[in-house]
Amino acid sequence: MKIISDIQELRDHLRGQNRASFVPTMGNLHEGHLSLMRLARQHGDPVVASIFVNRLQFGPNEDFDSYPRTMQADIDKLEKEGVYILFAPTERDLYPQPQEYRVDPPQQLGDILEGEFRPGFFKGVCTVVLKLFSCVQPKVAVFGKKDYQQLMIIRQMAKQFALPVDIIPGETIRADDGLALSSRNGYLSTEERAEAPELQRTLQEVREQVLQLNSRNTNALSELEKAAVVKLVGRGWKPDYIAIRQQSDLAPASNESLQSGEPLVILTAAKLGKTRLIDNLEI
Ligand code: PAF
Repeated sequence: MKIISDIQELRDHLRGQNRASFVPTMGNLHEGHLSLMRLARQHGDPVVASIFVNRLQFGPNEDFDSYPRTMQADIDKLEKEGVYILFAPTERDLYPQPQEYRVDPPQQLGDILEGEFRPGFFKGVCTVVLKLFSCVQPKVAVFGKKDYQQLMIIRQMAKQFALPVDIIPGETIRADDGLALSSRNGYLSTEERAEAPELQRTLQEVREQVLQLNSRNTNALSELEKAAVVKLVGRGWKPDYIAIRQQSDLAPASNESLQSGEPLVILTAAKLGKTRLIDNLEI
């Protein structure tokens, strides 16, 4: 595997390749990321991965400084997966001048759910992803469904800018007890790790309740959301949201969307101790 930090060197290496498949990451790779590498291999060749902890998507009180950086272990894992190039720019490589041009996703997608609790997050994500696309110029790029809203926003960005990149979704990989794999799981204490799968279990309960919903009560869905929040609070969580949304646009689900069989998704973010976890479940 070639490890490259310089944009020009990356372009030189990829010259003439028009089927490259790209997986952007922030490192601290786990089985979830590696499954995305395998998916990338099915959709293009060569596979290019990136590791860059993107300051632009972290809020002032978030974990940019403490975000786990495990470069050597990550390199070993990517080599085993047969990744052809690891693009690992420094901040100076990727942002040689302050990044004043930014990509601002539309409010109705970028300022809800994660965007409401992490202002500017998706602006930072879209800006770095567009820049990484411009460096790698892949034919396809793979993003995990664990970051459901991110996947949707990147898809819309690629569509609106007519980027010649197909966005491929990768399924969420879970531990045996159901906890979605995440770099931030490493922050959990032993007790918190034992409690953490409750987040997915709660989403499964909400899904069952939604499927059984047989009510004309227009508040039924928001009552389910509130009850799930109350349950998690009772177990010591601090939920930011549990939201039943339409898969197509992440707009709140309504009785009409239920009746018309509109595909729905339940999304959540909640803090356990100091660790903020996110998860989702499609209905
Ligand atoms: O999902 C992530 O790891 C990051 O948001 C991404 C897409 C690599 C952009 O920094």
